[in-house]
Amino acid sequence: MNAQQARTMLLNADLIHSETTVQTALADVAGRIRARLADKNPLVLCVMTGGVIFTGQLLPKLDFPLDFDYLHATRYGPETQGGKISWRMAPWMSVKGRTVLVVDDILDEGVTLAAVKESLIRLGAEEVLLAVFTDKLNGKNKPIAADFVGLPVPDRFVFGYGMDVDGAWRNLPAIYALKED
Ligand code: IMP
Ligand code: MG
Repeated sequence: MNAQQARTMLLNADLIHSETTVQTALADVAGRIRARLADKNPLVLCVMTGGVIFTGQLLPKLDFPLDFDYLHATRYGPETQGGKISWRMAPWMSVKGRTVLVVDDILDEGVTLAAVKESLIRLGAEEVLLAVFTDKLNGKNKPIAADFVGLPVPDRFVFGYGMDVDGAWRNLPAIYALKED
C-alpha cells in the first residue's frame, strides 16, 4: 500500500479506542501483570511484529527483574493442526524452567498463540502466560484465553497500536477499524 492509500484508509476508518483509552488500559494491564509476575523473574517474549508497540510501552511499566527476548511464528497454512507452527525466529534464550510472558497485539481466533504456548511448554517452560493488548469479540470458541487483556475490540478488521492494515499504520497510538460496507 502506498502512502496516499494508507492516508485514505485512515480517513475512512472508525476510531475504536482513542490514545487516552489505550494508555489508560495499558496502565491497568501493566498493574495486573506487576501483581502477578513481580517475584517470578519472568522471560518476556514479544511476538513480532504486531506485539512491538504494546511490549515497548509495557516494559518500562514493569518495575521488577525480567529477561526479554522475542519470537516470530507463523502458521504453515490453513490445514495445519494446532501445535504445528513455523518459527521464523524462535526465542534465543532458553525457556526451560521459566515463567514466560508472551506479549502480542491481538487474540483473534487464537490459533497462532495456542500453538506458540504449546511449543514453549514443549521446550520446557514451567508456566506460559499470555498478554494481548486486544481481544477480538468474534463469538468464536478460542483454543486459548489470554491471561491479561488490555481492551476488547469488535469483530471487525482493526489496526493501529501494532496492528497493520496491509503493512500500514502499526505506528498509530490509537485503534481504528475499517468501515464495513
Ligand atoms: P489468530 O489469533 O491465530 O487468528 O491470528 C492472530 C494474528 O492475526 C494476530 O497476531 C494478527 O497478526 C492478525 N490479526 C487478526 N485479526 C486482526 C485484525 O483485525 N487486524 C490486524 N491483524 C489481525
Ligand atoms: Mg501477529
